[in-house]
Amino acid sequence: SGGGDAGAAAGPKPTDELVVGFAQVGAESGWRTANTTDIQNSFKDAGIELKFSDAQQKQENQIKAIRSYIQQGVDVIAFSPVVETGWDAVLNEAKAANIPVVLTDRAVDSQDDSLYVSFLGSDFIEEGKKAGQWVVDEYADSTDPVKIIQLEGTTGAAPAIDRAEGFADVIGADDKFEIVASQTGDFTRAGGKQVTEALLKANPDVDLIYAHNDDMGLGAIEAIEAAGLVPGEDIKIVTVDAVKDGMQALADGKINFIVECSPLLGKQLVDIVNQINEGETPEKRIITEETTFTQEQAVEALPDRQY
Ligand code: AHR
Repeated sequence: SGGGDAGAAAGPKPTDELVVGFAQVGAESGWRTANTTDIQNSFKDAGIELKFSDAQQKQENQIKAIRSYIQQGVDVIAFSPVVETGWDAVLNEAKAANIPVVLTDRAVDSQDDSLYVSFLGSDFIEEGKKAGQWVVDEYADSTDPVKIIQLEGTTGAAPAIDRAEGFADVIGADDKFEIVASQTGDFTRAGGKQVTEALLKANPDVDLIYAHNDDMGLGAIEAIEAAGLVPGEDIKIVTVDAVKDGMQALADGKINFIVECSPLLGKQLVDIVNQINEGETPEKRIITEETTFTQEQAVEALPDRQY
C-alpha cells in the first residue's frame, strides 16, 4: 500500500492491491444504512478492499478514523463529513501524506479546495427549494397564514444548513408562510418524534411539518398520531430522502410529498477511485440526479424501490 502520488508517476496499481478507507457519518437513518450497504457492495463488486468506520455522528471519531487511514497508508480516503467545518487540519495531514481525499454526500466548508479531489453528492439547496415549491403550490389558493414546523437535520451538517436555506428562499416569497418553530432532530426517528411532541404542545395549530429527512418525518407521524391527530391531513408533512419507509408512509397518505436524495453513491465512488489510480483527474463536483414523489407516484414506485 502507500498513498504515493495518486498513481500518476508510479503508474496504476492492480485493482486488487488498492485500499480505500471510508469514514462514514453513522447509522442515524434509513438513508445512511442504504448508503453504507451500497458503498460496501460496490467496492466488493469492484474487487477493491474497503476499510470502513462508523463515526456515530461524532466529528472527533471521524477525524480519528481519517488519521488512522493516513497512518495505514491507504490509497484513497473517502468520507461523508458529519458537519461542515473543522476539517482543514486533518485534511492537510492527508495532503502531506499524498493521500487523495474524496468527499461523498456532504461538503466541507473550507477555503482551500485543494484539500479534496472530488465531491460527489446531492445539491441540498435544490432539495430544500423543491420542498418549498411544493408547499407554495399546495397553498396557492389560500390567503390564510400557513404555520410551519421545521425539523432540522444535525446541527452544522451541510444537508441541514442547505435544506433550511433552499426552503426558506422559496417560501420567503410570500409572507403568509411562517416557520413558527425550528429545531434539530439529528436526522433520527427518535429525534423527530421527541421534537414534534414538544413543539406540537406549543404550536397546536400548526399546518405543516417540513422534516429534513424521512426518518424525522416518520418520528413526527408517531407524535402526531399520539396527539390524536391525522398525519397528512390535520398536519401535512414534507420530507427529503425517499427511502422505503418514507415512501410507504407517503403511499399511505401520512406524508404528503418527498424530495428524493439518492444514497446510491457507491458505483460513482468506485469510478472516482479508479480514475485517481489511473492518474486521471476526476471532476471536482459530481451532482447526484434525483426526483420528487407525490402520494400517487409513491404508490407506483414502491414495488421497485430497492432501499
Ligand atoms: O447527508 C444526507 C442525509 O443524511 C440524509 O438526507 C439523511 O437521512 C442522512 O442522515
